[in-house]
Amino acid sequence: MRMALHWPGVWATGASHVHLDVTDRAQRAEAVAKASAPSGGLDILVNNAGIVNFGSIEEYSYEQWDHIINVNLNGVFNGIKAAIPALKASGNVSVVNISSIAGIRGYEALPGYTASKFGVTGLTKSAALDLAHYGIRVNSVHPGAVLTPMTEGLALTTSHVALNRVGRPEEIAELVLYLSGPESSFVTGAQFVIDGGETAGLAHHPVVGPED
Ligand SMILES: NC(=O)c1ccc[n+]([C@@H]2O[C@H](COP(=O)([O-])OP(=O)(O)OC[C@H]3O[C@@H](n4cnc5c(N)ncnc54)[C@H](O)[C@@H]3O)[C@@H](O)[C@H]2O)c1
Repeated sequence: MRMALHWPGVWATGASHVHLDVTDRAQRAEAVAKASAPSGGLDILVNNAGIVNFGSIEEYSYEQWDHIINVNLNGVFNGIKAAIPALKASGNVSVVNISSIAGIRGYEALPGYTASKFGVTGLTKSAALDLAHYGIRVNSVHPGAVLTPMTEGLALTTSHVALNRVGRPEEIAELVLYLSGPESSFVTGAQFVIDGGETAGLAHHPVVGPED
């Protein structure tokens, strides 16, 4: 895929992509090598890949647990570890980890997802402390429900959300863009909730049913 990227004051063309499985450490190293080849360093790392699986802890399987921890948490760890040398080679660097509001509060029937996203929250803060002296900032983003392939087919109720709607992917992207750029130069180790007010408290919008 070729695309143009607009950054304040900069136009870059010819972006490229590399396929990788975030659980595969060798592939991560290859991807970092390719991404950093043109300049010798890496300026931005966004750890976004994630999966969801469901089940009350009673019936939730060990396989479900291992799979989701491997992708959602080990994947972020692998990403940061593989990128550190290339990140150190750049001047002003940002790592953005996509967690969830399930990374700051519990959800029924989501034991693995919640644990993995809490893990990302903690890993973010720890990495921010470890890497700050290299000028590497690390922050986490915590979306509420967003309409993407991950949530397709799920009954996403919004009566408990202050803004009474789900989010759009581009709204999350704007926050990631802010955290990736120089506008957030004094921000590290922080968690950014972007959830339409879902975790602010309990909203009570009337539920509109088919008969209304
Ligand atoms: N959609 C939501 O409501 C929501 C809410 C909070 C957080 N999130 C988080 O946002 C991130 C993006 O999710 P999304 O909603 O765009 O879902 P999505 O399913 O559209 O995107 C997830 C992407 O991760 C990729 N992926 C899965 N396993 C992978 C692996 N092993 N290696 C490489 N890539 C892999 C998938 O191919 C897919 O492209 C995830 O971390 C998710 O947990 C989503």
